[in-house]
Amino acid sequence: MLRRLHPDQPASFAFTPANQAWAEAQITKYPEGRQASAIIPLLWRAQEQEGWLSRPAIEHISEMLGLAYIRGLEVATFYFMFQLQPVGSVAHIQVCGTTSCMICGAEDLIGICKEKIAPKAHQLSADGKFSWEEVECLGACSNAPMAQIGKDYYEDLTGERFTQMLDELAAGKVPKPGPQSGRYASEPLGGLTSLTDHDSGKTQYNASVQLATDIGDTVKRIDGTEVPLLTPWQGKAANSGKSPAKAKRDDMMPPSGLDGAQGGRTKTEKSAKRSVGAASDKVAEAAGEAPEAMAKAKPARGTVAPAPKSDLKAQSGTATTGAGKKPRTMSVPRKSGADDLKMIKGVGPKLETILNTMGFFHFDQIAKWGQDELAWVDQNLEGFKGRASRDNWVDQAGRLARGEQTEFSAKAGKDGRYK
Ligand code: FES
Repeated sequence: MLRRLHPDQPASFAFTPANQAWAEAQITKYPEGRQASAIIPLLWRAQEQEGWLSRPAIEHISEMLGLAYIRGLEVATFYFMFQLQPVGSVAHIQVCGTTSCMICGAEDLIGICKEKIAPKAHQLSADGKFSWEEVECLGACSNAPMAQIGKDYYEDLTGERFTQMLDELAAGKVPKPGPQSGRYASEPLGGLTSLTDHDSGKTQYNASVQLATDIGDTVKRIDGTEVPLLTPWQGKAANSGKSPAKAKRDDMMPPSGLDGAQGGRTKTEKSAKRSVGAASDKVAEAAGEAPEAMAKAKPARGTVAPAPKSDLKAQSGTATTGAGKKPRTMSVPRKSGADDLKMIKGVGPKLETILNTMGFFHFDQIAKWGQDELAWVDQNLEGFKGRASRDNWVDQAGRLARGEQTEFSAKAGKDGRYK
């Protein structure tokens, strides 16, 4: 299969501040001179954030790792886990078409994709929510036929169940990943014939499905605020007042004044340090809540740069953009001050800025959105389309407006994550 960069590319790419911090922490996992090894997780995180990998994203990550662009491009174009063109805002479906899956019904699944999504692979559905492609064996042959959506496997599929799943996704629900036939994992269809004490102590779902269910990030864009940073040295770095990566690197690097004496250090190492340091500064700037810095953030997703702040303000009249109906907006928050919209799961610092710019400052504003208004917001969240309904902002905002806590807000408040 020919894998080429998409002809329409965004002007630029930037990780969200949280994803940038995550990416920098990943780099510190590798020994000096081996930072290039972080390329797969960084490309994957960029894809989780944007939905697909644009040329600016590949270049940005290459720069972070001190790599020539062609090296980043080689990796991104080699693996079909990386999408090189825009994908559906809700889900990109990868149907395995290799032998086991083909024998067990993959062609039916592909037929359903053609009928319900788009006639050709990599085309977007009419509503922009879905795309699909056929891929080679994904290694779940004993649970054939199967499809991968995001980072999860959906196995033991039938045409009927697959159709239901697409309908559920279109309705904003997330089907539980794993075997769809009632099987626990990949045991024989007739049940276990050996290791029958395996049942003791097992979790409700198999390990992969349990993790997906617990984390709850199955099908959505990741802006870095949804998934806790699990890197052990994050806490230490945060307390030092430096970005995690910078703190770790400062520990590992000799004082900067010794640069001239480092004849043995490779160009790659120097370049990686420089680019990571610069990136850290960018994160610090954004984390410092400087509105201009946030407003200048590069477009997060898609081929169209986000409207400048002034343009978004201009939309705060009665005009509508795309589907749905524009909700009522406010030009400034009430005197009591804006609510902390980051207490809504799925709203990070960047999205909060976007929402404020659009004229949304309070939980009760969001709680009042009806279906049409939700559709409008989903369409107009440049870089985060579909996020409002996917993360059920209206329900969350309703509870917060009533002074209740959500599971997320209780945890976020306790952690002081956004304070
Ligand atoms: S043949 Fe489909 S997962 Fe292996």
